[in-house]
Amino acid sequence: MPGLPLIEVRPYRASDLDGVIDLFQRAVRETASADYNEAQIAAWSQADRDEWELARLSRPTWVGLVDGELAGFADLEKNGLIDMMFVDPIHQRKSVATSLLARIEAEAEVLGLTTLHTYSSVTGRPFFEYCGFTMLLARAVVVRQQRFVQFVMEKVLDL
Ligand SMILES: CC(C)(COP(=O)(O)OP(=O)(O)OC[C@H]1O[C@@H](n2cnc3c(N)ncnc32)[C@H](O)[C@@H]1OP(=O)(O)O)[C@@H](O)C(=O)NCCC(=O)NCCS
Repeated sequence: MPGLPLIEVRPYRASDLDGVIDLFQRAVRETASADYNEAQIAAWSQADRDEWELARLSRPTWVGLVDGELAGFADLEKNGLIDMMFVDPIHQRKSVATSLLARIEAEAEVLGLTTLHTYSSVTGRPFFEYCGFTMLLARAVVVRQQRFVQFVMEKVLDL
């Protein structure tokens, strides 16, 4: 149908590193900034390139492309934790995150996982609820001296 973006999900490549860091920082500074103050955004948006390089390659990570351009990324740890789910501010609400989650769920099935969980931001919570996650608890975490509320959320997968 004309007008609908073409969303593709593919495995992360080492050459995606700078693109995903830039996307992460813009998602925090432009999208999540609606829910956090300036000091929190400054603390959250810091990214050490060497640490990111190792982390991205240490677990399955996927990127979402809209019409061939990097538009989002997400990962899955062996224990079912989704640590990262970020979408470019210019591609919000186009189902990029939903497409990434569908890929994660397919991988979870291969791994024999029965549940997925995430430590969601305030900004991410409506998305995860929309996708069938329930909130188990809200807790406070401190990151670079800033206090954040984090929602521990879980989705039981259909077997
Ligand atoms: C959360 C995030 C990943 C969602 O990405 P997205 O690609 O825009 O999400 P989708 O388009 O797949 O959204 C699917 C549904 O989730 C819900 N949803 C998503 N974002 C929402 C928002 N800001 N407010 C209310 N509901 C929202 C809606 O029901 C949406 O369906 P609709 O657009 O048809 O109404 C993105 O907003 C983001 O990167 N946020 C900043 C970073 C962040 O906080 N990430 C989570 C870290 S744990």
